[in-house]
Amino acid sequence: MKSLAALRRFQLFYAPLFLLSAATGVRGLRDVSIKIPLAVAPGSTVTMTCQYDLEADLLYTVKWYKGRKEFFRYVLKELPHTKVFPLPGVNVDTALSDSHHVVLHDVQSDLTGKYRCEVSADAPSFHTEMVSSYMHVVNLPEGDPEIRVEKMKYAVGDVVRGNCTSPPGNPPANVTWSVNGLPVNSSYSRSSPSKAENPLVSVVAGLDLEIAPDSFNHGRLHITCRVNVFDLYTAQSEIFVEEERPRLASVLGTRESSYTGKAGRRVEQWIFMVAVTNLLLYSLR
Ligand SMILES: *[C@@H]1O[C@H](CO)[C@@H](O)[C@H](O)[C@H]1NC(C)=O
Ligand SMILES: *[C@@H]1O[C@H](CO)[C@@H](O)[C@H](O)[C@H]1NC(C)=O
Ligand SMILES: *[C@@H]1O[C@H](CO)[C@@H](O)[C@H](O)[C@H]1NC(C)=O
Repeated sequence: MKSLAALRRFQLFYAPLFLLSAATGVRGLRDVSIKIPLAVAPGSTVTMTCQYDLEADLLYTVKWYKGRKEFFRYVLKELPHTKVFPLPGVNVDTALSDSHHVVLHDVQSDLTGKYRCEVSADAPSFHTEMVSSYMHVVNLPEGDPEIRVEKMKYAVGDVVRGNCTSPPGNPPANVTWSVNGLPVNSSYSRSSPSKAENPLVSVVAGLDLEIAPDSFNHGRLHITCRVNVFDLYTAQSEIFVEEERPRLASVLGTRESSYTGKAGRRVEQWIFMVAVTNLLLYSLR
């Protein structure tokens, strides 16, 4: 999103130059774009691509930066064409890297960051354009989120308070709640502190939901918690909490009961018998 906005700003910025070159009949370097994965696992090999259209221009250089530091350069007029600038953690495969690509082996979490490719046309225009994009080296969480709620039975007007904890990972996972299939906002979201020796963090998101009269479906409320890290990892857990009805109502109000089906009716008959037995026992004392 951000890089797209930056690209747009760039195009706006360069629009007057285009008009100028169109007016003078000179067409040159344009449509520079960068393609790098948004997120990769540690240890991966990553191919970063810089696309551009030179039109009438000749290529001068393609430079690659991580943040402000250049790590790779391609110079058309020099031999060898490629030059590597040492940067900790950056392992460029020069055999596979060229005027459009740079290939990095064994990327680790310190390679998370902003990457930029800068393309320059040769004389006479020396026109230069650059574009950037972000790459995360992620430690994906393993396993499912854990849901904890204060209790399992609620009456209308009660508040369901709960926490959902993601398995540890980096970057922090997105944790989202939904109730009866509809998303609800978390009451808070917190990451456990990240330590130098253990950069993995868990995220805890809170649920604070007031029970409405129509919350229950067949006496149950379906709560799910989903965690995801980009589109690389997603997992979810679910619980069902139950409607707590006044005892008397559940014994007498069989007609309005939301239980349906044979099993439900059998339960109600059983409850009724227990109530009758209790009454009998009580009156015998
Ligand atoms: C959720 O987390 C908060 C803050 O750590 C804690 O006070 C609360 O008891 C937790 N709730 C449950 C249901 O575990
Ligand atoms: C959830 O949060 C978003 C952004 O803060 C807000 O626009 C939206 O209205 C909230 N939804 C509910 C159901 O509170
Ligand atoms: C979390 O969600 C936001 C908003 O949808 C998104 O921009 C961000 O990339 C997500 N982060 C992760 C780690 O998935």
